[in-house]
Amino acid sequence: MTHSLRLGVAGLGTVGASVVRMIARRADALFAATGREIRITAVSSRDRNRDRGLDLSGIQWFDDPVALARSGAVDCVVELIGGSEGPAKATVEAALASGKHVVTANKALLAHHGAALAKAAEAAGVALAFEASVAGGIPVVKALREGLPGNAVSRVYGILNGTCNYILSRMEREGLTFEACLKDAQALGYAEADPTFDVEGFDTAHKLAILTSLAFGTVVDAEGVSVEGISRVQPLDLRMADELGYRIKLLGVAQATAAGIEQRVHPTMVPKSSAIAQVMGVTNAVTVDADAVGELTLIGPGAGGEATASAVVADIADVAANMAAGRVRPTFGRPSAALRPAERVEMQRHEGGYYIRLTVHDRPGVAAGVATRMAEREISIESILQRRSENAAVNDPRGRSGQPVPLVLITYAATEGNIRAALDAIAADGLLAESPQLIRIERE
Ligand SMILES: NC(=O)c1ccc[n+]([C@@H]2O[C@H](COP(=O)([O-])OP(=O)(O)OC[C@H]3O[C@@H](n4cnc5c(N)ncnc54)[C@H](OP(=O)(O)O)[C@@H]3O)[C@@H](O)[C@H]2O)c1
Repeated sequence: MTHSLRLGVAGLGTVGASVVRMIARRADALFAATGREIRITAVSSRDRNRDRGLDLSGIQWFDDPVALARSGAVDCVVELIGGSEGPAKATVEAALASGKHVVTANKALLAHHGAALAKAAEAAGVALAFEASVAGGIPVVKALREGLPGNAVSRVYGILNGTCNYILSRMEREGLTFEACLKDAQALGYAEADPTFDVEGFDTAHKLAILTSLAFGTVVDAEGVSVEGISRVQPLDLRMADELGYRIKLLGVAQATAAGIEQRVHPTMVPKSSAIAQVMGVTNAVTVDADAVGELTLIGPGAGGEATASAVVADIADVAANMAAGRVRPTFGRPSAALRPAERVEMQRHEGGYYIRLTVHDRPGVAAGVATRMAEREISIESILQRRSENAAVNDPRGRSGQPVPLVLITYAATEGNIRAALDAIAADGLLAESPQLIRIERE
């Protein structure tokens, strides 16, 4: 008779509790799919007395998740505590050191310590699986790691943070400010009390670092991601984007360029016709550009207990199915020694189209002055929009009031270094009433 797979689940919060329920609910189907019974033999959480609505009878309780990780009654540790340091890291390290498989949903841990943990898993000959760490319920890790080996990937990008996409979707639809939408997101439980990690792009950066490694075979490098969040996006930018045929999304983008692999997180204008532009609310999406399949987009729930448990349980099923053959997939799709070192590409070298919103003094010659500075840096302008308030149009028909008015430019491909140099020159000319807004355009 085949040995069962004995799980130790560390963390019984939103995801952990859903995993416990799903393993029970899907027991027969999991047995049929993997040929092995999957049993939870141990759990750990901080508060033993909390009623979690779970039947934990016959399951050993550990106050210390590291002790659970070392327990002889566990073959696979499911780490659902969270955080890049502290108990989560100690638990995963202890599990790998004791020769146990690990399944985790912890993007922060993988982004910061993925390279070292992958080596430890290899040394122990065990799996370190992390499908749930990127885009929740979307099986994107599997798609990149196992579904595309015949392809050379040139770009992978996605909406990887539901909080940000919810905020931008509402700002666009209802013309509300960032601050108003953030408050609603907090009231609905989509955003944390301290939303910095989400809205300033760090959560997206962690997930992007993992995707980059899988897509390009490089060592995971979270510190190499250039990060900019959504807190400076204004309703006017969303209106202008709409008028110009775009939507604004917070994207994580990893792209192969002549200088190396760019890793960047920033508010991005995407054509309204693109698949990723259709993704609204808390939903996530990932697009892969690869030579054989072309463009592939996966869309689905990026968070929530059940959706995330779906990804965790998929990894557990993989471990169970592969156990008999003693087969273990390399953590990032290839052995650690075969991963290339990450190359960092400065944002200044990024080349692409730009949306630039200047707030200029309304007087003759300003647009021409801006255009001259752009031309000096060989930046070609694709379109230009100038808006005046209705009052100004009535009271100042010749446009000489000197009042601040928006001037919006869309550029053809230019380097960020040249764009910033041109903006510095425009500011030095005294043409700007406020600091400029700059949003990168990602074309299909
Ligand atoms: N929630 C999502 O939608 C989602 C989506 C994708 C990925 N993830 C990832 O999944 C992981 C878990 O997230 P979550 O939302 O389920 O978090 P959560 O609801 O805050 O649950 C965390 C759990 O860890 C336990 N815990 C904390 N410190 C502990 C310690 N020292 N020893 C033992 N247990 C400890 C907590 O115990 P108590 O319950 O006793 O306090 C709690 O059960 C994180 O890595 C997160 O990034 C979550």
